[in-house]
Order: sequence, then structure tokens, then C-alpha cells
Amino acid sequence: MFRFGMKEKILQSFRSRMLITLDKITKTVFKKYYLIWPEIDWFYNKSFEDYLKIFNEYNGFNAYRRYILLQLLRLVEDVPGDTAECGVYKGASSWLILAANSANKRIPNKIHHMFDSFEGLSKPKEVDGIHWKEGDLKAREEEVIENLKPFKGKFKIYKGWIPYRFQEVKYLKFSFVHIDVDLYQPTFDSIAFFYDRVNDGGIILCDDYGFSSCPGATKAINEFLEDKPEKMIYLPVGGGFIIKGLRTSEDIDLSQFIKEAINVRQTA
Ligand SMILES: C[S@@+](CC[C@H](N)C(=O)[O-])C[C@H]1O[C@@H](n2cnc3c(N)ncnc32)[C@H](O)[C@@H]1O
Repeated sequence: MFRFGMKEKILQSFRSRMLITLDKITKTVFKKYYLIWPEIDWFYNKSFEDYLKIFNEYNGFNAYRRYILLQLLRLVEDVPGDTAECGVYKGASSWLILAANSANKRIPNKIHHMFDSFEGLSKPKEVDGIHWKEGDLKAREEEVIENLKPFKGKFKIYKGWIPYRFQEVKYLKFSFVHIDVDLYQPTFDSIAFFYDRVNDGGIILCDDYGFSSCPGATKAINEFLEDKPEKMIYLPVGGGFIIKGLRTSEDIDLSQFIKEAINVRQTA
């Protein structure tokens, strides 16, 4: 028992030193890169791990955003309305939305509406920067249908360029909308269409918000929300969301307090 404790302690100290070294190495390449402590419960969530494996995402680059999507879906269990996704790719995020809808016993028959060109991204504009090019992230509709087999009958796919097929859902109301199209124009068209159709308490999540690789998406959301009471809540792992009907303050500017904080420390 005692020896096991010692071994654990040595291992833990080794891991901490490894992390500190890793932090130094990453910062030489990526000046701003914050590693996180590995003692996070959900890292050991077996079913979430299995989900990541289904979509070949076990490397973890998207894992945090996948997990926050799953958590945000819990907030809309009692909010009436269907769900929607603009930008489906292979269906990984729709899979989680459908899992939440299917597990929802309070409002059990939400339908999930999925919009995608299945021809990849539309043509980026200047505002979209240089990261993306037309046709990137192309997936096949058949692959999505295959991936979403466990949820057969609970989703509808609208193949086509956004916003053309939005009209087919114009009389519906929504509880959760996931916008993930990377570029300015389809992001703007998506929030502009869905905003009024999301019930109070419902959520609009934009996967690309706040990524320097998707400047157009961030700009589109900010422009649209400019005269709205809701403002985007930044997620530290990338992306952002609003809760419909919940007034949100502007970003809190810390700089006004920093000078005084530094003075206090210097005089202490
Ligand atoms: C980042 S991927 C979506 C990823 C997916 N939500 C996930 O988490 O797995 C972006 C998707 O948006 C689609 N897309 C981009 N621009 C579009 C447009 N103007 N109209 C329709 N679909 C578009 C692409 O075909 C691609 O499948």
C-alpha cells in the first residue's frame, strides 16, 4: 500500500515536470498557448471517448468543443422547438445534438434539421482571411446518413447552399441552433434567419466564433448582434454562444483595473 503511494507520488511529480517542460517547448513555437491540467473528470468519460473514436477525433483537437456542445444541449431540455445545424460535414456535431434530442424525455420528439452544400465551403471573401479555400471540408451526404443511423427518422437533411433551403423551415421554432460554416456570408445568413425563430431560453452556438482562422464568422455574428440584447459568450476552447432572451453585458474590460492592481503590488 505504502509502496504504491510512493510510486504514485513519483509518477505525479514526473508528470508535472513533463507538463512544465511541454509548456516551455510549446511556447517557443506558439507564443500564446495555454496547456491545461490533465486532472479533468470528462477525460475519463468512456462513452464520450467512444464517441470521439467513431468520428476519428481521438487526437482531441475538437474534443473540448464537442464536450461543451454536449453540455450546452442540457440547458435546452425544457425549451420547446426543433434543433438545427448549419454546416454538417460528416455529422459529428449533429450526432451529439441528436443524442441529446433522443435522450430528452420531457420534449421527446424534436426533429433535427441539417443544412449543408455537401460541396464544402463556399467561396471565401476578403473578410474571411487566408485560412480557407472554396471546396474545403467537403463530405458526402451518404456518409452523414450512415453516421447518423442510430437516429434514423429524427433528422432531415437539406442539401444546398445556405441560405436557399432555409425557407423550408420558416414556420418552425427552434431550441438549439449550431452554426458551423466557417465563413462570413453563410454565418451571417444563418444567424439572421434563425435568431427570430429561436424560442426564449434556446441557444445559438457558433463553432467558429473567436478563431483567428475564421475572422469572417466572428465578424458576421458581432455585426448581427450589434443591436440585440444578447452578446456572444466566448468559450475558452473556441466558439461562442448566446441564450436567446437573456440580456448579456458587453465584454468586461479588465484593463481599467490592471493599472491600479500593478500599483498596489508595487507599493506593497
Ligand atoms: C466545419 S464543417 C462543419 C463541421 C460539423 N459541424 C462538425 O462539427 O463536425 C463546415 C461545413 O459547412 C459547409 N458549408 C460551408 N459553407 C457553406 C454554404 N455556404 N452553404 C452550405 N454549406 C456550407 C461545408 O460543406 C462543411 O460541411
